[in-house]
Amino acid sequence: MATNITWHASPLTHSERSQLRHQQGFTLWFTGLSASGKSTIAIALEQHLLHLGLAAYRLDGDNVRLGLNKDLGFSERDRGENIRRIAEVALLFADSCQIALTSFISPYRADRATARALHKARDLPFVEVYVQISVEEAEKRDPKGLYAKARRGEIKEFTGVSAPYEEPEEAEIVIRSAETGVEEAVKQIVEYLEGKGLVG
Ligand code: PPS
Repeated sequence: MATNITWHASPLTHSERSQLRHQQGFTLWFTGLSASGKSTIAIALEQHLLHLGLAAYRLDGDNVRLGLNKDLGFSERDRGENIRRIAEVALLFADSCQIALTSFISPYRADRATARALHKARDLPFVEVYVQISVEEAEKRDPKGLYAKARRGEIKEFTGVSAPYEEPEEAEIVIRSAETGVEEAVKQIVEYLEGKGLVG
């Protein structure tokens, strides 16, 4: 733990920065099982936001785990650290008036609550998007063959099979993945954001 550290405040308030940038920063936090479709929806939404001329950037599970978080595994403790670091990075994007789209299983309520609290403490909007799917449906999709490997015992602590997924209780948006196409999901999220005055 570092000591003798002093926070340096910006000469600009966040709202002055937003006015200069003509954009409100916030975080869209996708959560859901592997193969729920959270990355597919986040990719399509990021494209949509970029085409509106908004600065948006996606942080994605596998990619972040190949770089920033390559020292972390899938124990409860490592997942907690994974989510804590991602929340801090998303916060920087949001604070710089960009839209951060994070796409991580983030299976533990306490970790998602920490991410939300970090944003709240800085008065930055945090929108949790639960991409809901049953384990059975996700397992039928299994695009990477991970559920099959987990069932054979070749992957330990696999979410939904041998590790928990704690369903969100306070998600701002719930996408029913089995019944909702990607375009429809994007529309559902954009309508929510417009309703809150975050885009549009
Ligand atoms: S977490 O729980 O939020 O820390 O996980 P995340 O950073 O999103 O990483 C999930 C991706 O890692 C692959 N993978 C596993 N997922 C779950 N459990 C275990 N044990 C595991 N091992 C590897 C998998 O490709 C996940 O990607 P998605 O896109 O979710 O399928």
